[in-house]
Amino acid sequence: MIPIILDMDPGIDDAVALSIALSNPSIDIKLLTSVAGNVSVDKTTNNLLKLTTFFHQTQIPVAKGAAAPLKKDFSDAAYIHGESGMPGYDFPQVTKEAIKLDAITAMAEELEASIVPMTIVATGSYTNIAMLIQKYPSLLHKIEKFVLMGGSLSGGNVSSVAEFNVFTDPDAADIVFKSGVPIVMVGLDVTLKALLPFETIDAIGSQGEAGEMLQKVMTAYGDTAEGGKPMHDVNTICYLLNPEFYTVKDYWVDIIVSGPAAGATIADTQNRWSEGRLNAQVAVDIDTTAFEKWFVEQVPKMNQY
Ligand code: BDR
Ligand code: CA
Repeated sequence: MIPIILDMDPGIDDAVALSIALSNPSIDIKLLTSVAGNVSVDKTTNNLLKLTTFFHQTQIPVAKGAAAPLKKDFSDAAYIHGESGMPGYDFPQVTKEAIKLDAITAMAEELEASIVPMTIVATGSYTNIAMLIQKYPSLLHKIEKFVLMGGSLSGGNVSSVAEFNVFTDPDAADIVFKSGVPIVMVGLDVTLKALLPFETIDAIGSQGEAGEMLQKVMTAYGDTAEGGKPMHDVNTICYLLNPEFYTVKDYWVDIIVSGPAAGATIADTQNRWSEGRLNAQVAVDIDTTAFEKWFVEQVPKMNQY
């Protein structure tokens, strides 16, 4: 089992990623933390609680994180994810509350208690993990790696160069990429290829209660490409379980924190200015056939919870 801390801003593709992680026996979610992003942090926290309730996994602690980026004003993506962040399905009444600890303290306690270094997966902006790095530098050696959905070497989705999670809090991304902790950057270079075809989404709807829930929320998802919907955040979980689906390249990646290119992730692909330093393994290609097959195989597992 892979023990992870999962930091999210659900968000429809976050919700799909979490549904898979909660029901895959190879993943052991030790802690769920929320961050403001697709919608406010109150809503992303509530959505984490809704999903752990739906999958009868209320033993997993949910801790509320940052309500706003480190320096920028907060701006949501409700135009893509709906006002609630998880529209289209009538979730059961939430039966638990977030824990009293804030996300940063909860992460620190989890890392401290763990006997092995842990992987932190982040599918929202990186505000919480940047705060963790700043407040608890002595715990960095307890983090095996960050697996991040975000960034792009091939153009953005909120500007011509910036991807949403990095754009939301570029100052946090800058801290994370300079932290020295190994990073796997799973960005738009692969997630815009990992489309779930519309027919596949429809077909999932007849596969039990979980399939129906997934089909309904994915149908309400405003992020659409030609032929299907990009399952951005799902790629972090897919990468953890199937790294062989991805082609990764080692680069030094810098974050542009201000100006018209704010939120851009620039890799030294020519090895000209990074002086031999490397800080990220960047996913640059994906076996999309294997991804779709794997995705479809996850749905029956979800109904066992
Ligand atoms: C990222 O932005 C968010 O809207 C999605 O949930 C995903 O994490 C894609 O750019
Ligand atoms: Ca997200």
